[in-house]
Amino acid sequence: MADWNKASWRNKDRVQMPDYTDQAALNAVEAQLAKYPPLVFAGEARSLRKQLAAASRGEAFLLQGGDCAESFEQFSADGIRDTFKVMLQMAMVLTYGAKVPVIKVGRMAGQFAKPRSAPTETVNGVELPSYRGDIINELAFTPEARIPNPNKMLEAYTQAAATLNLLRAFSKGGFADIHQVHAWTLGFTETEAAAEYREMANRIADTLDFMKAAGLTAENNAELGSVDFYTSHEALLLEYEEALTRVDSMTGQHIAGSGHFIWIGDRTRQPDGAHVEFCQGVSNPIGLKCGPTTTADDLKVLMSKLNPENEAGRLTLIARFGAGTVGDHLPRLVKAVKEEGANVVWSCDAMHGNTIKSATGYKTRPFDSVLREVQEFFQIHRAEGTIPGGVHFEMTGADVTECTGGVRAVTDEDLSSRYHTACDPRLNASQSLELAFLVSEELAADGRSANRMVG
Ligand code: PEP
Ligand code: CO
Repeated sequence: MADWNKASWRNKDRVQMPDYTDQAALNAVEAQLAKYPPLVFAGEARSLRKQLAAASRGEAFLLQGGDCAESFEQFSADGIRDTFKVMLQMAMVLTYGAKVPVIKVGRMAGQFAKPRSAPTETVNGVELPSYRGDIINELAFTPEARIPNPNKMLEAYTQAAATLNLLRAFSKGGFADIHQVHAWTLGFTETEAAAEYREMANRIADTLDFMKAAGLTAENNAELGSVDFYTSHEALLLEYEEALTRVDSMTGQHIAGSGHFIWIGDRTRQPDGAHVEFCQGVSNPIGLKCGPTTTADDLKVLMSKLNPENEAGRLTLIARFGAGTVGDHLPRLVKAVKEEGANVVWSCDAMHGNTIKSATGYKTRPFDSVLREVQEFFQIHRAEGTIPGGVHFEMTGADVTECTGGVRAVTDEDLSSRYHTACDPRLNASQSLELAFLVSEELAADGRSANRMVG
């Protein structure tokens, strides 16, 4: 990659990026961001890579989740805390089923820029540019709000820094201590899943009492007292990504300083395009969304560009096809990976292929479709003898009504009650926990710990 540099994406075709009209303002923002500290340290990204390498072998499992789009308006400490709590609960449930460590990665602290299916949006005969996420323009349906404003990158950076600061405090400051396993529950999630969680937490608490008696406590075992929690987002807005790219003094490699893990979206994965060019040259773990139009040849080219050394943990393939169609697509991609002997983590985004319009006019996702896509993903990997390495959800700790279904069923009519997402519909806290139990069953059925022992 001799001719790569952090700005070389500028010579490639770009899609889904805004055309900033005020070049001087854009340059000033880029210069400012380039002076700011990176949000993450290269050593952390390396640790995550190592953990993902374990997931590629079935010795760990990836849980990636959070908002579709983080929002400036809804930014709050409580919101961050509640999503963090639900992810800790889900991770606990998945660990119980998989009997392997669960790698926790938030779609948080940088998940602001959105690709859109259409460049404009028409309401009551008025056509305006689409909303592209709070880092670019505003959701309000006025011509001024939809003009891309580079200064929003500075606000996004500030929010990301504050979010990450709180996540680090929660992760390392005692809140995530496993002895708090009961305290991560949320008041409004009283369901069967919540009861099941309490029972599991009781069993964990018993085990901890036993371990304490045997001399193992959080004081002498760091693993019990804290967690590693990583951040991720789609690397869509390349001016922002470039400005936060740094050289790691320990290795001399470039690192995107905007988050630990970045991914390439299903709409921006052109092998010769700007987004693939940028991601090729940074050493972070990279995700690649694979959708119904991803061909085996595309995937082979992308794998050779994004992971030429075939390092385990570098590349996570995030399959997102839609319930009922995983069998039409995943096998050809699994075959391509096998043919190349490629080391990848296979993760399942069970959200983006399952978006529908409800009878009441809301963009929604039925819980059953989300679950079914995960189950199909596991089935196919079982049949192919490959490893389902993770799941990817749009979810929140808040009690929203955006996806239908779940045991505390959200109906089409309920959607209007607490529909708060800035972009796609998210699973609420109880739907997320319920899903974690169902995914955990798949993992337990896989007998992954047994595989590990003999493997
Ligand atoms: C997303 O993850 O929010 C997204 C837009 O996904 P995809 O690129 O898979 O459509
Ligand atoms: Co989304």
